[in-house]
Formats: sequence, C-alpha cells, structure tokens
Amino acid sequence: MTGFSTRAIRASARAPRVDQHPTSVPIYQTATFAAEDADELDAVLLGAQPGYAYSRLDNPTTTALADAIAELEGAEAAHVFGSGMAAIHASLVSLAGTGDRIVASNAVYGSTQSLLVNVLGRLGIRTDFVDATDHDAVAAALAAGPARILYAETLSNPTMIVADHAALAGLAHRHGAAYVVDNTFASPYVCRPLEHGADLVVESATKYIGGHSDVLAGTVAGHPDLIDEVRRVQIDTGAALAPLAAFLVLRGLATLGVRLDRHAATSTALARWLERQDGVRQVRHPMLPSHPGSDIVARQFHAASGMFAFELEGGRRAARAFMDALLIPTRTASLGSIHTMVVHPPSTTHRQLDDAQLEAAGIGPGLLRCSIGLEDVEDLLADFAGGLEAARGATRAPATA
Ligand SMILES: Cc1ncc(COP(=O)(O)O)c(C=O)c1O
Repeated sequence: MTGFSTRAIRASARAPRVDQHPTSVPIYQTATFAAEDADELDAVLLGAQPGYAYSRLDNPTTTALADAIAELEGAEAAHVFGSGMAAIHASLVSLAGTGDRIVASNAVYGSTQSLLVNVLGRLGIRTDFVDATDHDAVAAALAAGPARILYAETLSNPTMIVADHAALAGLAHRHGAAYVVDNTFASPYVCRPLEHGADLVVESATKYIGGHSDVLAGTVAGHPDLIDEVRRVQIDTGAALAPLAAFLVLRGLATLGVRLDRHAATSTALARWLERQDGVRQVRHPMLPSHPGSDIVARQFHAASGMFAFELEGGRRAARAFMDALLIPTRTASLGSIHTMVVHPPSTTHRQLDDAQLEAAGIGPGLLRCSIGLEDVEDLLADFAGGLEAARGATRAPATA
C-alpha cells in the first residue's frame, strides 16, 4: 500500500474517459502530458510523433483555437499567443534578423511602433516608416534597399485609414518582402488579408475575437512553413496562451459574426447621425461614402466593425467635455468589446505628440475614437447627443486660465 500523498497525487490526476464528445472544447489545464514510455516522450518532444508533452509547446485547447483561427482566416495554419504583442513580435522576428530592414506603415499601434524602434532596433533590425496609402512612397521605401517585411494594419488607429492589401502585397512581393498585416480593428469576419495576398495575418484576439474584455490573446495565421517558424519563436521565447484563455477566446470566436453584425450596424448608424450634427467637423467610418478608402472597403471588407473616429470643432476642450458627459461608455483605452469605449487619442494613446506632430499624423485635437459595443443604439444615440451638447457648451464658454 502506497502512502497517502502518493495516492492523493495519482488519484487527483486521473482524467475520466469520455465516450461522448463534449460540445465545447475542454480546458486542458495542465503543464505536462505523460507518455507511455521514454521513446514516446522523446518522439513527441522532437516532433517525430504527434502528441503533447509540455504546454509551452502544444496544448489541446490552444491547438483547437489555432485550428479554428486558421479556418476562419482562410489559412492552412495558425498559432496562438499570450497577447497580440507576443504574436506581432514572433511574426516579425520569425522573418527578420540582425542587419535586416522592415518597411512599416507610419500609422501603426503605439506598442508595435515601440517594438519596431526600441526592441528590434536594439537587435539591429531597422524599420523605415512610410504612409501606407501612398503606394509610390511604399515602393520607393522597398526599393531603397533589401527589405524582409512590409508591415501594415487593415484599419489604422485612430485615423481609420484603410490599407489596400492587394496593392501592398503586390508591392512587397515584387521587392522580395513578406507582407504582414495586423487585422485587429477588423477581425477575420470583416476582412481576411490572406485572401488579398498577405503572407501572415496577426490579430490581437484580446479585441473582437475574444470580444468581452476578459482575456488577453494573440493569433497569427498563414502558410504552414511560415507558421512553423513563428511557432519556433514562441517555443523559445515563451508567451504561450494559457488553456483557460484559449477556452475564453474560443467562446468569443463562436459569436464573432453576430457580434460584428451588431457592432457594425450600430457604429454605422451613429457615424451617419454624427455626420449631420452641428459641431462635428469630420466623421471617419469605413462604410461612409465620404471615407477616402471606400473603394478599397468595397473590394476588401465583408462588413464594418464597431470602430470609427470623428473630430469635434472646438478641439481638446470640446473632446474632453464630450467624453466627460457620456454615461454609457467605459473610460478605458481598449477596443473590440461588448462595451462601448470612447478615447481621446491626443490625451491618451498619442499624448507624447504635440499639436504640430498630431497634425502631421492626421489627428486633430478634437478627434475621438469610438469602439461601439453591443448596447442599444437608441441609448447610445441619446448619450452621444448629450456629449455633443456638452461639447458645444464647452466651445462657447470662455477659456479659463
Ligand atoms: C491594432 C492593435 N494591435 C495589437 C495590439 C496589442 O494587442 P494586445 O494588447 O493583445 O497585446 C493592440 C492593442 O490595443 C492594437 O490596438
């Protein structure tokens, strides 16, 4: 008879046999998997035999998510990560090393810009930034010297510029570069960059794919040879997605389409309404005919998301008054969730830039970025009307010292 603790350890790890398939993917909350013998363990660890050995390498719940993402992005393979930034990092360093050059859109997410400049820059990978809507400038940057990667976002933050994936993929390939896209603002329901020639598509699944602001995750999809390299980076750098997190993302993924339909309908209704209001200088929503990229949207988007931006007359004072008057949105800087979120980029995500730099980046002082959630459209319209009233009041009031 073995001792109590020995029996307790064995008894508590005995997984039940289940002959009927569960209708949701179980959470394989384990770091390790036991092989039949030493040969099997070696073979699984070396990849000579399919199976599981250690959850930083592979875990059934995260593998289920990766397979689902591959299918929905229109890819043969995908890999998942502990965050969107981890996915972006692994994608970039799987393709570029010391001495290599990247050409990137100058309108990328702040942490991505910092990753390119500070982290990869220190490792001897240089990035040249260009306006991704200016294809002559992109071609010139690619022609200026060998480049490994052309990097862009489907919809830029907060200017809502739309990248022409077909054109950018063509330019990248003509110059021997891989085209890597961050599709976070759209999600694979709205746009599938691989269908337009991208080599790798990255998503912060923290946003629309997870959809509920309760999990951090990242995904990369593309050709199996490229995904093998991406996976190798993850294995050696960590950033594995936890099984519970993978379960939450799978749960979000199941309703991505219906959520996005509602996000899109409500955001489009609000954007159309804002375009007609006094005190609103400009509205940037991909589904409005006034959007400069509406022809690209027609070719490459299947729907809208909940993302748009609008600029108030009256600059910072008006924008802050609008934000403070809102009752429904949560005061947070994320996006892609059931909750509506409104941010003022000049005082949050882009606060390092002075007014001249903001102007150069196409960001007016009164610009607000909205991620419209799943609340009732009538309630959001009433809340935004109250915000506009407060913004107009702040604009009329004499400035305080
Ligand atoms: C466009 C975009 N890409 C990537 C990320 C990073 O994602 P995560 O926070 O999951 O690392 C963000 C986060 O806000 C984002 O907005």
